Amino acid sequence: MGRVSGKPTGIFITLEGGEGSGKTTQARRLCERLTAQSLDVLHTREPGGTLLAERLRSILLDHSVETIAPETEAYLIFAARRQHVDHVIKPALARGMTVVCDRFSDSTMAYQGYGRGLDLRALRTMNDWATGKLAPQLTLLFDVPVSIGLGRRRGRAATENRLDRETERFHRKVRAGFHALARREPRRIMVIDSARPLESVAQAVEALVMNWLKTYRIPTSKRR
Ligand SMILES: Nc1ncnc2c1ncn2[C@@H]1O[C@H](COP(=O)(O)OP(=O)(O)OP(=O)(O)O)[C@@H](O)[C@H]1O
Ligand SMILES: [Mg+2]
Repeated sequence: MGRVSGKPTGIFITLEGGEGSGKTTQARRLCERLTAQSLDVLHTREPGGTLLAERLRSILLDHSVETIAPETEAYLIFAARRQHVDHVIKPALARGMTVVCDRFSDSTMAYQGYGRGLDLRALRTMNDWATGKLAPQLTLLFDVPVSIGLGRRRGRAATENRLDRETERFHRKVRAGFHALARREPRRIMVIDSARPLESVAQAVEALVMNWLKTYRIPTSKRR
């Protein structure tokens, strides 16, 4: 993809949802599918995506460090996001790439806002500051009951991280938070029932994204 009137024309897609909802699995599949469509794809994740941001990620997921206040956690996430946006996401979009990001701003609203109880308006303001108001054009929200998602993570025998030590109640608040975000922005955030088998989720993602790409590209070509 090229540029339209000097503006970057890359597409920014984020994948969101609770623990074990299938984000990483489906991100990989989606990237393969988009690459097959001749799109130049960048697959990245949050927190992370740059050297500094990945270091902050390790701290955030490490349960052996001292107790982390919710506010500290939010600041670290925003610090990582700024690095990621400046060094990776914006340059890729400026080159016309399709950026697929595993978690982004909605996770902060869901976890730090709805989950930890930090003020949503303050978080939005700080997030705008961290992103320079860069927002995804499309967000896929992988929705799965908390017990299923946590069960999948345990099944994977992944190394336990700080968030795994949270209560089910916390994860239920996060899930309700994601639902609230989706109600607020129904055009951007598409909810995908992720309790289904992996293949059927992948098919739903493919149908949704391919359809979205068609409608997304029409206004772009009209401007030319
Ligand atoms: N629809 C599905 N049905 C059954 N198992 C699934 C499904 N989707 C993913 N899994 C499995 O569940 C585990 C978690 O999936 P995945 O890592 O993709 O989730 P995630 O949302 O990225 O989790 P995390 O929040 O831990 O990053 C993996 O072992 C994966 O193979
Ligand atoms: Mg993951």
